Parts: sequence; C-alpha cells; structure tokens
Amino acid sequence: MSAEATCESFEGGGTILFDRLDAQPADPLLSLIGLARADERPGKIDLGVGVYRDAEGRTPILCAVKAAEHSLLRSQESKAYLGPEGDMAFVELIRPLLFGESLAGDERIVGVQTPGGCGALRLGAELIRAARPETRILVGRPTWPNHQPIIGASGLEIVEYPFYDRETARLLWDDMRAALLTAGAGDVVLLHGSCHNPAGADLTDDMWQEVADIVAARGLIPFVDIAYQGLGNGLEPDAAGTRLVVEAADQALVAQSCDKNFGLYRERTGTLFVKAASRTAGAIVFGNLLQLARCMWSMPPDHGAAVVRTILEDRALTSDWRAEVDTMHRRIRSLRAELAVADPRLAYIDAQNGMFSLLPLAKSAIERLRAEHGVYMAASGRINVAGFAEGDAKRFAALIADDLPRHDG
Ligand code: LMR
Repeated sequence: MSAEATCESFEGGGTILFDRLDAQPADPLLSLIGLARADERPGKIDLGVGVYRDAEGRTPILCAVKAAEHSLLRSQESKAYLGPEGDMAFVELIRPLLFGESLAGDERIVGVQTPGGCGALRLGAELIRAARPETRILVGRPTWPNHQPIIGASGLEIVEYPFYDRETARLLWDDMRAALLTAGAGDVVLLHGSCHNPAGADLTDDMWQEVADIVAARGLIPFVDIAYQGLGNGLEPDAAGTRLVVEAADQALVAQSCDKNFGLYRERTGTLFVKAASRTAGAIVFGNLLQLARCMWSMPPDHGAAVVRTILEDRALTSDWRAEVDTMHRRIRSLRAELAVADPRLAYIDAQNGMFSLLPLAKSAIERLRAEHGVYMAASGRINVAGFAEGDAKRFAALIADDLPRHDG
C-alpha cells in the first residue's frame, strides 16, 4: 500500500493513534555511546557509559568468556525453551557467589534469571506492586538515572533520601540514617551493593551494619542493586554489605548483574533473588516471579547465562575469570590513584570504588570539554574511571584543572 493510500484511510475517519505520543528525548547516557563513537579526533576521551576499557581503550571479551563460548559451540545440543525462570543451574551458581556459602543455603531465598540487572529491577518492582501496590520505595539521591524510571514504571511511589553531596564529595550518612529511622514497616529501601553509580561512594562496614540493624528493627525491606561485584575491592568484599542486610532482614530483594564483572554487557545477563519470610512464602514468590516474567519477556535470553554457567561449572575457567576480575579492579584502582596524584582536589576519587565518580564541574565546563577536547561524560559530572586509556587520566586532570573549584586557603 502506498503512503498516500494510508493517509487517505486516516482521513476517512480513523483515529490517528500514534499522533497522541509525545516526542521523547534520547537517553542522555546511552546517546553518549554514539556521540563518542562518531567523534574522529584522535585524542578523544570517552568517560560516558559504564563499560570497562583496557590500557589500549578496548573493551575486550574476557578470555574465560571466549573459552566458555567455544565450549558451548561444541557441546550445546538444543536451543529449546527453558521457561520463564531461565537457566536454573546458572542461578544456583550465582547464589553462593553473591551470598557466600552460609547465606546461600537459606531456603527462604528464591531466584530467577533476568534480562540483565534492569530486568531484575523491573521484575522486583512488579513483584512488590503485585504484593502491595501502596508500597513506598526509598531511593537515594543521587542514583543511577534509570532507577526511578524502571521502578516508577511499575507504579510504585518513590521517596528520595539524601545520599551524597557532589560539591563536597561527602556521603550524607547522617541524613540517610535519619531517613531510614523515620521509614515505616514495609517500606522498601533501594541500596547500591557496592561501587555506587554514579557517586562511587560506598557505605563503610560500620554503616552497613547500622543499616542492617535499622532494617531489622523497623521491618524495612532492602532492595539491593549489585551490578559491579568485584570491580570495587574484589568479589568477596564487594558483596559484604549485601549479605549483611539480606541476613538481617525478614524479607529482601537483590537485583544482580553479570554485565560488568563478566563483561557480557549486551548479552543482558542477571538474576533476581527474593528472600521471603518463610519457605512456603518463598515458593509462592517464585510462582509469582514466573508469572510476571512471562508477561514481560516470557523467557530471558540464554547465551550470557549459558556462558556464565559454563565458567562457574569449571574450576579452571572460574579461576581464570576471577583473575580477570582482579585485573579489572586493580586497573580501576590504579586509575583512581593516578587522578588523585595528578590533582589533590581529586584525592577523594582514590577513596571511592568501582567505575564511577562525580566531578563538581559546571554544565558549561562539561560542554566545553566535549566541544574543544572530545571529552565525553554525563551531564551530572559522572565519569567512568574505567574509560581512561593509558596516559589519559593525567591529561584529563590537566584539562579540568581550571574548572574544578579552588581549595580554600
Ligand atoms: C551506566 O550507568 O553507564 C551503565 O549502567 C549503562 C546503563 O545502562 O546506563
């Protein structure tokens, strides 16, 4: 049918459905991928979206992943459906990695595979809404810009709590604690398990303990987003806070992602674990997760989970993978140290964790850096520390020297 013929039939009295849509701006973070890629200047520095890069500026496929893919190619015998829960062998291998051996045995915790951490967050929000639509979710400010849209899409009420001040590079712990102490039983609290996105500022062990105590005393429900396990201080330390609060709470949710620590970004590989008040309640939660997943994506994509399972089922591949995670987190740590040495005003970055930190830069400075030097970062001042190629960190520190606030005195 020609375009004219289509228009005519609308003029004939039909409702033009899609004219009712508002135009949408491009996603501010994801659009940086295309902008940086299109920039042909040799010295460009891409600190936008959160992907790990090596000293040459590449995001290589991990060796353990390549080996697992080769093995899958030879051994996989079917692509038949697995079901809305995904690959349960994968889920059960993630369980001890995330929770540690003792908590992993808690039979009140049920889990399913999800399309990445985003899918896990959305599924968790839908589960909460299905259980009690009037539930409030407390979300830190600032947080990953997609948290509120994903959770908000399920219709839950979002209440912000103060978490971090970009200008002073300080965790707003007293304010956060005060917000938790006034939250009511049944309120859900979204927490970043480690490597806070965008601030890079994590709770200390003592603060996690206090959060766990408050959660237990007030009947709050932690919803932990852990997307960077291993990239802060290593696989075990990065999961310690998550384990503390899940253990302390009667009920909890954990959205986990393999995108970064297995370098599987586009494969969309994650899990959602839910701790219910009893084993029986856990079984009912599991059934609800399947039904909700069936409505949203029917089944999660298989390849990434099959790769992770193949790695974690094999002792040698697991140890190769752990070594590669260590390489990534050591490189990120050394880039943080490099920034701190380059300018004392960036010293706080060395004390932070994971891929991201926030810089107190004006919008005009961020725009100028992009236009004049091909430096790409989020409008919030978030940089992906893992995005610096060899020599870039020092050069970047010099480029922003005049834009950073002066130290007093
Ligand atoms: C990021 O924050 O850069 C990543 O988590 C990618 C994304 O989906 O936003």
